[in-house]
Amino acid sequence: MNARVPDPPTPKLLAGQNALVTGANSGIGEGIARELAAQGANVAVNYVVHPETAQAICDDLGKQGVKAIAVRGDVSKEADVQAMFAEAVEAFGTLDIVCSNAGIQRDARLTDMTLEQWNQVIGVNLTGAFLVAREAAREFTRRGMRDVSCALGKIIFTSSVHQMIPWAGHCNYATTKGGIMQLMESIAQELAPQKIRVNSVCPGAIKTAINRAAWATPEAEQKLETLIPCKRVGDPGDIARVAAWLASDQADYIYGASIFVDGGMTLFPGFATGG
Ligand code: BGC
Repeated sequence: MNARVPDPPTPKLLAGQNALVTGANSGIGEGIARELAAQGANVAVNYVVHPETAQAICDDLGKQGVKAIAVRGDVSKEADVQAMFAEAVEAFGTLDIVCSNAGIQRDARLTDMTLEQWNQVIGVNLTGAFLVAREAAREFTRRGMRDVSCALGKIIFTSSVHQMIPWAGHCNYATTKGGIMQLMESIAQELAPQKIRVNSVCPGAIKTAINRAAWATPEAEQKLETLIPCKRVGDPGDIARVAAWLASDQADYIYGASIFVDGGMTLFPGFATGG
């Protein structure tokens, strides 16, 4: 006879909730969409290009027994963001969780950076975060409390370790992440009395397409690991599990927090042997 009694099934953290994840057709956004669905949420999967990829992800999410829809929209464009929210609300009735995740890099040294590179990154990463958060707060406020969560709604930004670590050759990107920190904290303060919880996850080096060159060869990966005290480049699941937990009532007293999920990258690893 087997002495071990099976564990009771774990209740899903986000059962009955509806989520929208921007930039969800690859990388960290896709990971978050998958984890939210695994935790019982219906998910709107935002994409800009490659509708077939977004649809394939939705088909997968459907296998978890949740509803999933692909919604097109460039987060840097106000009309796109409004249309995308309208589509998600039409499909699900309302939204409980909004993950502002879409982000790009257009890297250059300062003296070589074009205004276009600067504006593109500010547009998607920072203006996009503002537009998405604004529509989220409007929707939560419009529909009022629901019986699925202690909060009126949750907004989660995908920031970065670069909201605190300066990054030569990437000043546009680092500026947006520093900006997201102030955006997040300012609106967390503003919306907390309404029980809207606004927080950020701050990933370190995660294996996605955005930084492929930094981990694609064993040499590159080893070099990258010198910046990571735990000596492992992360994967999207590392971020997604934290985002899903942060969206759940398990994190009900967390307002305005930046949760670094970085294997210790922000611990100044250069000082482990010096200083
Ligand atoms: C960037 C990655 C980088 C990581 C750590 C992220 O925010 O998008 O390209 O590898 O920070 O530096």
